[in-house]
Amino acid sequence: MTDHTQVKMTEMKYGNDRPKAANPVKIEDLSLRDGHQSLFATRGRTEDMIPVAELMDEVGFWAVETWGGATFDTMHRFLNEDPWERIRTLKRYFKKTPFSMLLRGQNLVGYRNYADDVAKAFVERAAENGMDIFRTFDALNDYRNFETVVPEIKKAGKHFQGCICYTLTEPRLGGEVYNIDYYVGKAKDLEAMGADTICVKDMAGLMSPYDAYEIVKALKETVKAPIHLHSHFTSGMSPMTHLKAIEAGVDIIDTCMTPYAYRTSHAAIEPLVMSLLGTSRDTGFDIELLAKINLILEKEVMPKYKHLLDDSKVSIIDINVLLHQTPGGMLSNLVNQLREMDALDRINDVYEELPKVRKDLGQIPLVTPTSQIVGIQTVNNVLFDDENERYKMITGQVKDLCYGLYGKTAVPIDSEVQKKALKGYARGEEPITCRPAEVLEPELDKAKEEIGDLAKDLDDLILYAMYPTTGKRFLKWKYGQEKPPEEVVPRTMDDVKAADELIKKAKAGQLVEKKADEPEKGENLRTFNVFVDKEYFEVGVEEVGDSPIISYIQQAQSQMASMPAPAAASSAPAAPAGPQRASTPAAPKPAPKAAPAPKPAAKAAPAAPAATAADGTPLAAPMPGMIIRYEKKVGDSVKKGDTVVILEAMKMENSLPAPTDGTIKATNFSNGDSVAKNDVLAVIG
Ligand code: CO
Repeated sequence: MTDHTQVKMTEMKYGNDRPKAANPVKIEDLSLRDGHQSLFATRGRTEDMIPVAELMDEVGFWAVETWGGATFDTMHRFLNEDPWERIRTLKRYFKKTPFSMLLRGQNLVGYRNYADDVAKAFVERAAENGMDIFRTFDALNDYRNFETVVPEIKKAGKHFQGCICYTLTEPRLGGEVYNIDYYVGKAKDLEAMGADTICVKDMAGLMSPYDAYEIVKALKETVKAPIHLHSHFTSGMSPMTHLKAIEAGVDIIDTCMTPYAYRTSHAAIEPLVMSLLGTSRDTGFDIELLAKINLILEKEVMPKYKHLLDDSKVSIIDINVLLHQTPGGMLSNLVNQLREMDALDRINDVYEELPKVRKDLGQIPLVTPTSQIVGIQTVNNVLFDDENERYKMITGQVKDLCYGLYGKTAVPIDSEVQKKALKGYARGEEPITCRPAEVLEPELDKAKEEIGDLAKDLDDLILYAMYPTTGKRFLKWKYGQEKPPEEVVPRTMDDVKAADELIKKAKAGQLVEKKADEPEKGENLRTFNVFVDKEYFEVGVEEVGDSPIISYIQQAQSQMASMPAPAAASSAPAAPAGPQRASTPAAPKPAPKAAPAPKPAAKAAPAAPAATAADGTPLAAPMPGMIIRYEKKVGDSVKKGDTVVILEAMKMENSLPAPTDGTIKATNFSNGDSVAKNDVLAVIG
């Protein structure tokens, strides 16, 4: 039990010169990874971490999380930063605080299982570049997905922190699957694998304070390794959860500096320091030092990122998490997906279907990527199933899950769903029971052959092996073969000041309207491709310190179908969006005064209808998306239910089945084409 009266409050000092507590709570700071990943789409830049790095090194954190999760992806894709370089740079400022990273087991810092050769090389290089603590998790809590990385972590002499993903099927801890025995069992497994510490990873903020007390107490009684709690703030419970966990004897707690705290991030450190001041679990941290760091972040760093914060909601907690025991991000994805399919009125059906789908798929935890897999299949079921048939449209990722490519589920997958999913599945109709990476061929040699000399060292090669498209593009920027686009250039304080000035003027009514003269095309002219239905237009936009001015608009090509794949992920500065959004890139707002009226070309030339279904049964797109590939070609005969075409929507692949027996009469699109809902993709006669 915490001793509340260790020091007389009158003698209390705020600084770190107060007496050391008997059993101080250790703190890991997540501001430089999970903090900005949660609040501003992982866009934090190394140059904005340096101003606080030396001060943070003085606080006495058990560790600082500086890398992993989505940072590797975002840095090379959106920030034109070499992820490996960040570790080396920050290490020059953090001289004594260990670095921690989030490692997604065999998924490393990507979204699929990589082959063992990539996994080994990745861990070895991360350790060599300066990583100290490897916080390792698997979305299914299937620790066979740790079997390759853990020996590498140990071989490098580094700290292996094993994670248990925390999830619920009931409003509180318990039920048939995720009960206290489950977590105790997982902790024993991790200890047997040599875990130096054990982390309960509550990514959705589901853990309630009294459940935290029970779990921590049970874990402390069962395993020797120190217990670490990672509980997001999303639902609003985490500060209470932290306190009960501390009373139960938790060793390490995760927090953020205030400017990076709350909402979907983590509770802040400063209130915790004050709450524990003078108790036997006092952190010992200097509150004035923390205040100094906050001030720098608040004044010099956050202004550059505030435009990325989601200010669409006033509430800082997401009560839906409490209602549905599902991560907040997953719920907002579901809403977006329904909106894009014009079916927002089905949201309650989705909430009802979700637990059924999750159960059918083996009651898997809901964390990246399993939350998306369950969520999108749920929406498919709600929209496309009827009373005669369930699972009419099964996504490719559900097929992979049913095959065993993600690992073993908490309870077995429903055998009928599994059988249906694996009918005609390319790897085989019989699911595997081995460790998933055992069916993967080595990848590094092949990657080396493909990328050639553009990868100068192993770090470059690993980056390319994990992210072939964006990785290659980054290496071209890095070695001067291509000029990085403007959207990867950092936002400076001068940019922020200029924007703030403008807003101030506008509010004061001091913005003067420009004359309606058409301006000359200047050297700042940038070209945008704007897609409207099946047509696209090249639009010239010039930034002149005011709203962007549309200088010209011209129809570039009559059929978007002949365009290369949409430029979504490569050019849009926002997080990768669904493919249908890719076809309408952030169209600049026309400046109503200065711009010539855009020609009404878009509406005037209706999309050329794809070959219609005059003599046959049409296979129509059930949702907007992008054609991945046709599985059948014109002339092929098909049986009802055979997959004809794979359509990607919301980053998931959907196999579209033939609605009837017959012969393929027409395939109306090409790979990479974006299609609208109800477009006829193929005709069967
Ligand atoms: Co997290």
